[in-house]
Amino acid sequence: MIFDTHAHYEDERFDEDRDELLMSMKDKGIGRIVEVGAGISSTKGAIEIAGKYDFVYASVGVHPSETAELCDKDIEWLKSLTSNEKVVAVGEIGLDYYYDEPERDIQKKWFEAQLELAREVKLPVIIHSRDAAEDTLRIMKAHHAEDIGGVIHCFSYSMEIAKIYTDMGFYLGIGGALTFNNSKKLVKVVENIPLERLVLETDAPYLTPVPNRGKRNSSLNLKYVVEKIAGLKGISEEEVIRVTEENAEKLYRMG
Ligand code: NI
Repeated sequence: MIFDTHAHYEDERFDEDRDELLMSMKDKGIGRIVEVGAGISSTKGAIEIAGKYDFVYASVGVHPSETAELCDKDIEWLKSLTSNEKVVAVGEIGLDYYYDEPERDIQKKWFEAQLELAREVKLPVIIHSRDAAEDTLRIMKAHHAEDIGGVIHCFSYSMEIAKIYTDMGFYLGIGGALTFNNSKKLVKVVENIPLERLVLETDAPYLTPVPNRGKRNSSLNLKYVVEKIAGLKGISEEEVIRVTEENAEKLYRMG
């Protein structure tokens, strides 16, 4: 079944029908979902949702754009959550120079702190990196992220960088952006990187694939991403679903 490795169902855009929507997943071919923390309150939300549904797992972490007010106590709090058996990763963490706030030194500081947290608790990381390829890679190399492992969420960089990450053992998260008109660079990555290094993700409610672009995203739209990957690689949709599900199980170290 389809494994959505990255979603944000705690978002208020799901307040109206969250329960109904999540309960409909299994019948529509969605197996497991990882609800990703992107700050203090969304991490609380992720733990809550994962506690409620057996097929939903959680990650705990603070997105670079949310690091302005962060303190050491928060990292301790994140650490305390990782003993929860439904917590499968630390993330999303990283650098965002597109919005470029808070200042880069602050983003870097908390990226590094959360990388070390992941190492300490032996969980993989979910990396958010936007317009910050060089610094992200430099920090990950300096912290020997190849020993930590994880996924580069919403991969948006070149083939050369894709190769470096996959050589480090990282997976690339592929979602709705692959179906956009301007996805040339990403198409090249998906064509050339082995399926064994790719995982499916929505980033719901964001990044809705064509033909539903502009509407709220959910895991139900992953079929369009599967279709696109199958076409690019000349394989069946069943194979895309099966292999990316196995990859996600390995990424999040599920039995
Ligand atoms: Ni996200």
